[in-house]
Parts: sequence; structure tokens; C-alpha cells
Amino acid sequence: EKGGYDHFMLKEIFEQPQTIFDSLRGRLDAEHQHITLSGVDKIKEKLIHANRVIIVACGTSWHAGLLAEYVIEELCRINVEVEYASEFRYRNPIITDKDVIIAVSQSGETADTLVAIENAKKQGATIFGLVNVVGSSIARMSDAGAYTHAGPEIGVASTKAFTAQLALLYLIALKVAYEKQTIDQTLFNKLLGDLAKVPQYVQDILEEQDAAIQEIARKYADANDFLYLGRGFNFPIALEGALKLKEVSYIHAEGYPAAEMKHGPIALVDENLPVVFVATKDSYHEKIVSNIQEIKARKGQVIAVVSQGDNVVAGLADDVMVVPQIHEIIAPILSVVPLQLLSYYIGINRGLDVDKPRNLAKSVTVE
Ligand code: M6R
Repeated sequence: EKGGYDHFMLKEIFEQPQTIFDSLRGRLDAEHQHITLSGVDKIKEKLIHANRVIIVACGTSWHAGLLAEYVIEELCRINVEVEYASEFRYRNPIITDKDVIIAVSQSGETADTLVAIENAKKQGATIFGLVNVVGSSIARMSDAGAYTHAGPEIGVASTKAFTAQLALLYLIALKVAYEKQTIDQTLFNKLLGDLAKVPQYVQDILEEQDAAIQEIARKYADANDFLYLGRGFNFPIALEGALKLKEVSYIHAEGYPAAEMKHGPIALVDENLPVVFVATKDSYHEKIVSNIQEIKARKGQVIAVVSQGDNVVAGLADDVMVVPQIHEIIAPILSVVPLQLLSYYIGINRGLDVDKPRNLAKSVTVE
């Protein structure tokens, strides 16, 4: 049932070209520049006139939500808040019937997320569920929604559910932006076109980078700490990279916005600290290059996710993982893939049970 792979986690990482494709299928029509999402249509007016979109989730799904905040604010010009479900449910948040809550959950059974939306619903908010498991509690509680079509995710560390969530969140943002007319046709067409290329590009990364990433994993498997840095659209990916490493390797890892390192974490940097930069070509590129130089000046070891053809970052970094160049808004869905593989192989090098890390449950149905 692992389809020839040693672990579910690896199988699920390698399924991503298909699962992303499945999540876009019948929804994204790049040729005719059209997005079909009946769940969005159902609450279209609410979304277009929303006072706020509040994204509620936990763990990896929260990271998908954080990226969605950047994307929805950029493309739809709607205020977005991203909330840890556990915090949101126990405060006394100000919610009105002009708020739309997007609950992001692979399992659809996460207790905190479920109760958070239950409370928000009572206060009049409209609930949109972005869920993988069909018929799950969160799906049933929602007023409208869209399923990610990632298929069953067995590995406790979420991989393919995350990229499916991103694919769908992009579609939602693009559709709302189109309806609200906050995006021009050229950018809309460009992003649709790039999104359609993602399954093939993920396939290319898996084929072309796997061997190199195994080597990198061997080199760094004994590290005690890792720092993950990224800016802008890549910041949520730095957080997700760090979470994945913690879960499957038990190595302490922290994700930070790259510019925040000067406000504390840079004190950790010495020759023993690997620093992973999510440094694909985007509008912050020069800034991240100078962040990398700052780490190198302190003898930190730099592993970078770089865009194909970026000799500047490749020249500075000790090790690179290369991804195809694509629009900066879409790039994070590619950047995360090498980080998943890196975590997997480091976990394997350390002889750990990557599919069932200690202390973790696949879905957290108690608080
Ligand atoms: O099923 P959900 O998406 O609601 O689960 C949320 C988190 O529990 C989950 O993402 C968790 O952080 C994973 N172990 C991450 O790999």
C-alpha cells in the first residue's frame, strides 16, 4: 500500500504532481481564463463585500492560511487575519456577519478548528471550509466550501495536503479578485497559466533534485539546530520547512522572517548552524541576498532554495536546491517541495519513524 516507497511520507511527497493536478482539475481552465468553484459562487456576495476574511487553522494548515493572507490581501484587497484556532476560540474575538471565516483543515476533525468555527457561526459569520476529508465535521459545519483532492494522507507529517491547500487557496484568491475586479486581466492570465504548470514543475523538482537533497541531508543530519528564513510569500514556507524538520527529525528548528534575524536569532549563528534560505527570485531578492551574506560573514552554513539560473545565491550558498522560476505569488508551492524531501531524508538518516513521529497524532481531535 506504500506503492513501492519505503514510507508513506515519501509516497505522499511524490504523489504531489498528481494531487495538485487533481485539486485544480475541473476548476482551473487556463486556456479559457476561467475558474469554476461552486463553493465560492455560493457565498460570492459575502466574499466580495467581506469586511474581513479570517483564516482559522492549526499547524501546517495554519501555514497555508498565512500564505493565503499575503495572496488574498495582494490580489483581492480584503483585510485578512490568520488565527491559530486554539487562540481564536478562547479569546472573545470581534466577529460580525460581514466576516467570512475560512477554516483550513486536512482532516476536517481538528477539535480547536471545529469549535472556533462553531463559535464564529453563532456570531453570524459565514463559514467556508477548505478540507481534505469528505464529509468530515468541519466540512459539515461549513456554509460553503471546497475539498482539496489530495486523497488519504497517512503520514503524520502533512505534505501533499499542504500543497493541495495552497493550490486551492490560490484559486479562491484569484476567483474573488476576478469577481471583485481587483486584478488586471494580464496578471490574472499569467497566474492561471503559472498555476497550471505547477504539477509538471513539481514533477521536475522531484526528478531532478532528489539525489542532491539526499546528499545534503547526509551532510547536515547531525546538526542540533536549524534556522529557516524567508521573506514575503516565502516566509510561510520557512515556517513550514522548520515544522516539517522538527516533526520528522526531532532537530530543533525555527522559522523566521529573514529580516527579523537581526532582532535576535542571528546570535545563534556560528559554523555549526545550518540556515535554510527560501530564496527564489522575487521582489525581495536583493534583500535576501544581503541576509545570506550576513549569515556567511558569521560562518553559518547556508542551504538555499533557489530559482533555476540564479548564480548569485548559488554562488553564496554552501548547498542549493533548485526549483523552476515561476511568478513570485505561485513560487511557494514549489519551494516547499525540496524542504519536505530534506526533512524526510534527514529523519531517515537519523533512523527515525518518519511516518509516525513520537508524541504526534494524525489528527488532534482533543484539545
Ligand atoms: O487536519 P488538520 O489540517 O486540521 O491538522 C492540523 C495540524 O494538526 C497538522 O497540520 C499538523 O501540524 C501536522 N502534523 C503537520 O505536519
